[in-house]
Parts: sequence; C-alpha cells; structure tokens
Amino acid sequence: MTDTLFSGVVAAPADPILGVNEKFKADLRSPKVNLSAGVYLTEEGKTPVLNVVKEAEEALAQAAIPHTYIPMSGLPGYDKVVQQMVFGADSEIVQSGRAATIQSLGGTGALKVGMDFMHHILGCTVSATSKPTWGNHNALLAMAGYEVRGYRYYDAANDGVDFNGMIEDLKALPAKTLVVLHSCCHNPTGYDLSAAQWQEVIAACQKGGLIPFLDMAYQGFREGLEQDATAIRLFAASGMSFLVATSYSKSFNLYSERIGALTVVTQSAQQAQIVLSQLKSVVRCNYSNPPAYGGRIVMRVLSDPVKFALWEEELAVMRVRIKAMRKALADELQRIGAKRDFSFITRQAGMFSFTGLSAEQVARLADEFAIYAVKNGRICICGLNHGNVEYVAKSIASVL
Ligand code: LMR
Repeated sequence: MTDTLFSGVVAAPADPILGVNEKFKADLRSPKVNLSAGVYLTEEGKTPVLNVVKEAEEALAQAAIPHTYIPMSGLPGYDKVVQQMVFGADSEIVQSGRAATIQSLGGTGALKVGMDFMHHILGCTVSATSKPTWGNHNALLAMAGYEVRGYRYYDAANDGVDFNGMIEDLKALPAKTLVVLHSCCHNPTGYDLSAAQWQEVIAACQKGGLIPFLDMAYQGFREGLEQDATAIRLFAASGMSFLVATSYSKSFNLYSERIGALTVVTQSAQQAQIVLSQLKSVVRCNYSNPPAYGGRIVMRVLSDPVKFALWEEELAVMRVRIKAMRKALADELQRIGAKRDFSFITRQAGMFSFTGLSAEQVARLADEFAIYAVKNGRICICGLNHGNVEYVAKSIASVL
C-alpha cells in the first residue's frame, strides 16, 4: 500500500524577511552586505552582548538556579517590571492593577497569544494592519483565524504617512476589528505618527468600537524609552481597553532567548485577573510555559535602577549609531549624485528605511552586488557601517 499522506503538500514560500537572511548566509561572495532582518550590528558587523547582559549571565551562572518549570504567565514579578517600562512607574494602570501581563516568546509570541485570545475567547474575526506592515503580521493573523484587512499608511508620493487615508480606513472598519498599530519605529516604513495624530487614531478606535493591538518591538530606538512609549501612554490615558506586544529581542540584543511580553489592558483589577487566567490557558495549550533564561536577565536589569541606567546608556549607543548610519547613507547618495533624493532616510526612525526601491531593483542589488534587502524595498540600517556605506550607496545608485 502506498502512503500518500504528505504527497500533496506544497512547499511554503520562503519567509519574506528571514528567507533573505538565509540567502545572505549562503552567498560566498565578498564583499556582501546584509540589510535584511532587523538585527542590531556594531560598526564591526557583530551583534554585541551588552555589558548589563554579560553581568546578568555571570550572576545567573553563579546562582545555578534549578531548571524547574516557571509559571504559565512567566517569572513572578516580570509583569510589574514590564508594565512600569511600558506605562511608566507612576501610571494609573500599574497602580490599579487593571492590566494583565504575561511573559511571551519574543514579540511574535506576544502577538500570537493576544490574537488567539481575542479570536477564541472574544470571538474577534476581522483584523486590520497598516499598508504595508511587518512581513509577519498578516501571516500571524491569518494563521490565528482572522480575515485580514488593511488600512492606508505609507504615502510614497510624499515620503511619509497618508494620515487622512489611515483615519478614513479605520473609520470604515466594523466594530470589534483587531487593529494592529506600530507604536514607534514603524516596520517597515520608519514613519511614525505625532502625538496629535495618535489622539485622532484613539478617537477613531473608540468611536468605531475597534480593538487596538499595539506592537512595540523597538522601544528605545527612536528617541528613548520614555519618549517612544508616547502612543501607549496616550492609549492608557484614554481609558479604553487595548493590547500591547513588547519585545526585548532588539533592546537587549536577546534575539535567541525569545523574550517579550503581552499586556492586556482591561477596565478593572478583577477583569485583569480573569483575562490573565485565559491568557494562561492559551499559553498552556500552545507551549505550557515560557523559558526562564531571557526573562531572568531582563528582570535583573529592569528591577535595579543602577543596572537600568547602564542599560539605557548601552541602548543609546545603538540608537545613535543607527542614526549616524542613516545620515552617512543619505549623504553619500547625495554626494555621488544619485538620481533620487534620499534625504527622507534621515526622517525615518528605528532600524529600517523604506527606500522606495522596487522588487526588481532589490533583486539586482542581491544578484549584482551581494547586497541583501527585503523585496518591498526595506533595508535594515544596522547592516551599514563606515566600511560598507560607500559600496552600498554606489550600488543603490547604479540600480536606480
Ligand atoms: C524584522 O522585521 O526584520 C525583525 O522583526 C525580524 C523578524 O522576525 O522578522
């Protein structure tokens, strides 16, 4: 008897971001430049281990903590340190206990648990993401059972945000739509909303009965930890219920430890406890409980003011380097007389620049120059350094 169980399985397409990373690794040419995944690199092209992380790792090694299960919701106390960072230590949300926070498998894990919870427990079926959005948002939503709609965001003609289009599209969404919003360092465009614009988004969400799901994977990469939480603080002040996914992959360079958090802001401490019980059951049905290592590192730093301050300094070093490379690329493109004005690169924020390069031009960069970017024209600025920026600028100019 022939077993045909898997014979009809069709190969999945390569991931739009991580697939490019794999192609870069397989390319043996030199020079080559990886501008694909959002991973911080130093001037020497390495992802650094932060000093605060090194210290925590040494302390953890000394402590030899037994590897027993940790709670389904994560390490005890993790919820508080996360909430203080996201909402501010004095925030009413932290004081009142009306938010439920669980430790998650990175930002992606937070998004997935939140989406599953809203779908299975609250019956949400429609979702909306910005056009464009992070390569994985729509796939996550579809896998979680949602119909995925889009709202206008990127304004190619004006190198910015089509804010009127965004508001118009949000207003047209049915009540109970789960709306994914990038709270800072929009991925992929790098264009963020002003505080006044966020207020309009909040009003549209409140009026339309929409459910905001704020994704904050890059807190600290725009202006600083506090400033970058502006959108979340405005949502908090509005009094509405919403969800937040946060990540420490980027801000701690702890990518492989899968450490993030999901926070659900409810209307009372009692509601938060009930929601927490459901989040735990979603976690239990997926992976039982999170790993402890990354959480212990993050907690050690966030719960100690001295270590926290040292971490903020290290985060600032990363942010400043990225900004300097933005300027270096834009200046170099101008210096060599590129056919387009690329000054917008310095007005974008976070790790990415949405260059406006076409899929064909991106393919030429890879084929002819071994420079790897995402097909939609997104480049990760962290892959640039003073040793390769001229090469990258020259290559970009030659595919225009
Ligand atoms: C990115 O957007 O490049 C990062 O968030 C990495 C990823 O998982 O896609």
